[in-house]
Amino acid sequence: MPSGLPPSARVYMDANATTPLLPEVIEAMRPYWMEHFGNASSIHLPGQQARTAVDSAREIMAGFFHCHDAEVVFNSGGTEGDNTALFGLLRPGDHLVTTSIEHSAVLQAAQRLAERGVEVTFVPPQPSGVMDPAEIRSAIRPQTRLISVMLANNETGVLQPVEEIGEVSRAAGAFFHIDAVQGAGKVPLDVRRIGCHLLSISAHKMHGPKGVGAMFVRRGTPLESLLVGGSHERRRRAGTENVAGIVGLGKAAELAMQSLADGTIDRVAKLRDRLEAEVLRIPGTGLNGAGSDGKPVARVANTTNIWFDHLEGEALVIALDLKGIAVSGGSACHSGATEPSHVLMAMGLDKTRARASLRFSLLKTATDADVDHVLRVLPEAVEHLRAISPVAAGTLG
Ligand SMILES: Cc1ncc(COP(=O)(O)O)c(C=O)c1O
Repeated sequence: MPSGLPPSARVYMDANATTPLLPEVIEAMRPYWMEHFGNASSIHLPGQQARTAVDSAREIMAGFFHCHDAEVVFNSGGTEGDNTALFGLLRPGDHLVTTSIEHSAVLQAAQRLAERGVEVTFVPPQPSGVMDPAEIRSAIRPQTRLISVMLANNETGVLQPVEEIGEVSRAAGAFFHIDAVQGAGKVPLDVRRIGCHLLSISAHKMHGPKGVGAMFVRRGTPLESLLVGGSHERRRRAGTENVAGIVGLGKAAELAMQSLADGTIDRVAKLRDRLEAEVLRIPGTGLNGAGSDGKPVARVANTTNIWFDHLEGEALVIALDLKGIAVSGGSACHSGATEPSHVLMAMGLDKTRARASLRFSLLKTATDADVDHVLRVLPEAVEHLRAISPVAAGTLG
């Protein structure tokens, strides 16, 4: 990593990739690696201490989701939750309705199921990035067993109309899964109001530890477990519980609920809005996630995704990194080749513009000084890259 800068001079605006633990989270987790290291399945005192910690975290998560304690299943994170929802419900002959802007944890699970005889429909978004519930409804067939739609898109932050899609699923008698990995902690969750059967989240996107997450599984949902080999989590997820991780997730969820209530998330939205408005003053830029009126659609508070004409997004990501700013671009590396983002392409951007898009995703601890630093550095970096860019010279398509 090229950086001769002191850590304090670095600005991290890639929260949708991952977030650091908050001090309260690591403090809550600390005892469960050494003093209270017991296995939550053991009946002796150390085991009981671990069980009590897992039970308390489960209660917090039930409050976070607005469900019953028995409907919370701890797992290893978003990828596992998404895989469990799809592989646990779908069999050859079933039909899945999902979207073309899902995270690869859903897309690739769907593709594998398609190879195994499950029919899959990938519904595209509107150019704004918002899914139209009527389009989801039109994709329904008699064999539709599951609808899987994300709450917030990881690249654009665009929020999906999950309550309306919940109504579509109810009318169709289909199960409904929500990948809420990028929405959790940024908007309130209420699984009863949404009317979903399954919902997955991940701790590391909301200032909790990596490698732990949770799922809401509505009582009575006939979900086959992905992992077998133990009766953990009411037989829904085998494997010795990651007690410290689960405690960390619980604490992160508690703090996330506070941040939603105490104005922290509104403050992040204001910072994001200031950043966005200023960046969009640079000529040859535009917002990914705007409606036909040019105004942003409903999004999570911390994310903005902006295209910059006449440059390569990856070059801008590197230029900003050299100046101490971490953001991410609109391309992903697949098997060594850089592919433009499938999300931006599904929204109708051309390849060049998708490649020239940047995602800024703010931590909830972001400050005015962070935004000021980006606004000091970015216009000059854009100007410099445009001056030397093969895209601007028309020698790179
Ligand atoms: C929308 C979405 N779903 C799922 C995942 C996967 O979560 P995890 O990293 O916990 O496996 C991510 C991670 O980037 C995500 O953004």
